[in-house]
Amino acid sequence: MRILVIGRGGREHAIVWALKRADPAREILCAPGNAGIAQLAETVPIGEMEFDRLVAFARERAVDFVVVGPDDPLAAGIVDAFETAGIPVYGPRKNAAEIEGSKIFMKNLLRKYGIPTARYETFTDYESAKAYLDAQPVPIVIKADGLAAGKGVTVCFTREQADEALRDTMLNKSFGSAGDKVVIEEFLEGQEMSILSFVDGETVVPMPAAQDHKPVFDGDKGPNTGGMGTYSPLPHIPQSVIDTAIETIIRPTARAMVAEGRPFRGVLFAGLMITKDGPKTIEFNARFGDPETQVVLPRLQTDLLEIFQASLEGRLDRVDIAWSPESAVCVVLASEGYPGSYPKGLPIEGLDRVSEEEALVFHAGTAEKDGRIVTNGGRVLGVVGRGADIRQARERAYAAADRITFQGKMNRTDIAAKALR
Ligand code: AMP
Ligand code: GLY
Repeated sequence: MRILVIGRGGREHAIVWALKRADPAREILCAPGNAGIAQLAETVPIGEMEFDRLVAFARERAVDFVVVGPDDPLAAGIVDAFETAGIPVYGPRKNAAEIEGSKIFMKNLLRKYGIPTARYETFTDYESAKAYLDAQPVPIVIKADGLAAGKGVTVCFTREQADEALRDTMLNKSFGSAGDKVVIEEFLEGQEMSILSFVDGETVVPMPAAQDHKPVFDGDKGPNTGGMGTYSPLPHIPQSVIDTAIETIIRPTARAMVAEGRPFRGVLFAGLMITKDGPKTIEFNARFGDPETQVVLPRLQTDLLEIFQASLEGRLDRVDIAWSPESAVCVVLASEGYPGSYPKGLPIEGLDRVSEEEALVFHAGTAEKDGRIVTNGGRVLGVVGRGADIRQARERAYAAADRITFQGKMNRTDIAAKALR
């Protein structure tokens, strides 16, 4: 079995690790990968968006199965490209990936099917957006329509912030063309949770819930990032709330996509706010979350490839998927300056001081230079501790994270603290 994984982050490292753990004899290729992935798979220097080269490479190497990690290639139709070439591939087609690729598409879908989400309006020109904004109370949330590396959303607590965010998004194009259109939506108050599900048409198999920490600093301060840390399960959130989210949001959305002629096959990621009126949708992603995957997949006891294959063969509803009851906590080590600009190429020390029994170290932005592992991204590593409960998993994650160093290393110190209050 030869599997090609596409992507280069911590999520892809966790996917490769899970595929390999289920069967060490499996041959895994990863394009383009990173220095951590290179320890488990053969990495190939082809970018995620180079569809022709990826398809040619998969043919040349007789790849049996392709798994796509990131949002950009999914939104651009990478699954359609592999399907056209007759190569088995796991992930949503372009028309289904639009649920993440366009926030306006997603919001209109939820409105049409009566699925709980924040009240909103959408705009394509600055003047009408500004007029609407002026008539709304703060806090208020401004979102670029398109993909913006997880950073296109601004939660504005003052009118000044809101004006600035709208100008930045629509006029200064801080998120590029993703900000040509915007969603302005009601601020939802509550705790967030992420539920990832394996979805095939109307079949929905939820994974254990996780919680991300998007703002860069402790206490949820500072700008949003791709995610600074995660944990799973969520001991302080009742199962009934999770079940309500699955029944009122996730299953209806999968059915809505089928009804729209855009059946979703792949991992559907629901970002949810638990409000006093129940769970509401913040966002949908068309892929595994990063860094949610780093705490969810280590708990998976079933072979991930078996789930992917069952999905392609239309028998996802008949696979027995088992999860370990253990807890997992992921602490992201980031570069100084992230989510703004940051240096690259700084040597990382101490990776050999952490054994897999103590913690899993998933590489997010690393490269190899002159035989050393160096930083190569804003989020550099995700250190995952596992234990009988969140407290133990968290202690292990931080103990291991402390032993890894690089110049300007930055991490939140309060990952999973909400679960322990
Ligand atoms: P998104 O990229 O859509 O997940 O948004 C990034 C982050 O912004 C979310 O994880 C939330 O913390 C926050 N956010 C987005 N929409 C809202 C909302 N309507 N109310 C409150 N917070 C929000
Ligand atoms: N952790 C949030 C995301 O993957 O978009």
